[in-house]
Amino acid sequence: MTAIQIKEGVYWIGVNDRTTDLFEGLWPITQEGVSYNSYFIDDEKTAIIDLTKSFKGDEYFDQINELTDLSQIDYVVVNHMEPDHSGLLRTLRRIAPHVTLVGSEKTRQMLEDFFSIKENIKVVKEGDTLNLGKRTLKFFSTPFVHWPETIMTYETSHRILFSCDAFGSYGAIGGAIFDDECKNFEFYKKEALRYYSNIVASFSAPVLKAIEKLQDVPVEVIAPSHGLIWRKDPGQIVSLYKKWAEYASGETEPGISLIYGSMYGNTELALNAVAQGISQRGVPVQIFDAARTHVSYILPSIWTQKGVMVGAPTYEVSLFPPVAGVMHMAALKHIRYKKGAYFGSYGWSGGALRNLKKIVEPLKWEWLETLEFVGSPTKEDLHQAEKLGEKLAEAVQKES
Ligand code: FEO
Repeated sequence: MTAIQIKEGVYWIGVNDRTTDLFEGLWPITQEGVSYNSYFIDDEKTAIIDLTKSFKGDEYFDQINELTDLSQIDYVVVNHMEPDHSGLLRTLRRIAPHVTLVGSEKTRQMLEDFFSIKENIKVVKEGDTLNLGKRTLKFFSTPFVHWPETIMTYETSHRILFSCDAFGSYGAIGGAIFDDECKNFEFYKKEALRYYSNIVASFSAPVLKAIEKLQDVPVEVIAPSHGLIWRKDPGQIVSLYKKWAEYASGETEPGISLIYGSMYGNTELALNAVAQGISQRGVPVQIFDAARTHVSYILPSIWTQKGVMVGAPTYEVSLFPPVAGVMHMAALKHIRYKKGAYFGSYGWSGGALRNLKKIVEPLKWEWLETLEFVGSPTKEDLHQAEKLGEKLAEAVQKES
């Protein structure tokens, strides 16, 4: 893509990534892609806000060279050190050796730790400004959105907030870079939630803190480092992020995330009865086969829904591994305050339920009744499974 003007003297520069399979080496983006948004400010002094992953360097640097002499860039603002935004830093410094890197004190340390860079660093603190000529940049400290060094940069003339990971999403840019041009909004909304639950959710308290800090700052454009630029309705993505961040305290949606695995269909027989019980109570249920669905696509459901129903057989005196993997990730992401229930088959000794409770023990979920059965579920087991679904649905309804 070529550079796109956002406002006079302010440009989107960046690259679409449609070939990386796993974001952070972990989260699938094969179908969706991702964009690494970077920004260029053309003033008496020139500045780039965040770079991109070390990827498509020629395309990226060509965009800048169309606007200015790349070797004479004055500043690179490093809002965030994660390599999807800093990967081209060393290459840029070889091209523009006199460039000054701007970031927080922690960024200064990370520049040394990650890239052995010790010179030409300008450390900025909360509220500091940098005058570029006609335009001024102001910096806000927003630690842990997403790493501890993170800052956000605010361009005061056009009131543009360069928010880096905050307000970002998965999804390569499909031609339309602005929210008002996008005809595929539901895709970005869905991918923003998946991105939030995968990448940002653990840091929900700092997200709320950052939103509160910026609430009185007049923002006309939100320019994140992934996904759409919000110029028509920046409040929309802020509201979504605020809502998702508040889910961390347990005020979630009145539905149930049903995560299951089944080796030979016995647990799956009970799953159908459980789902029937939930549906009979009019509660929405989202069903995931953990062995066939990457946890990246399950996390948005666990994050947003009040109830979590887990269905899994015992496997070697433990929880069926694909389901255990999902639960370990829920624990890693600190997904607390859920109402949980469990059902599953075992052959000769249980163990799945014990293992499950141990995995999510730090999350302090409220466990309702559980149902374990030997081998294939009997008619009575299926009746109990249906009741189990109803009970979790009722508990979820009661909280809503
Ligand atoms: Fe987009 Fe935390 O990096």
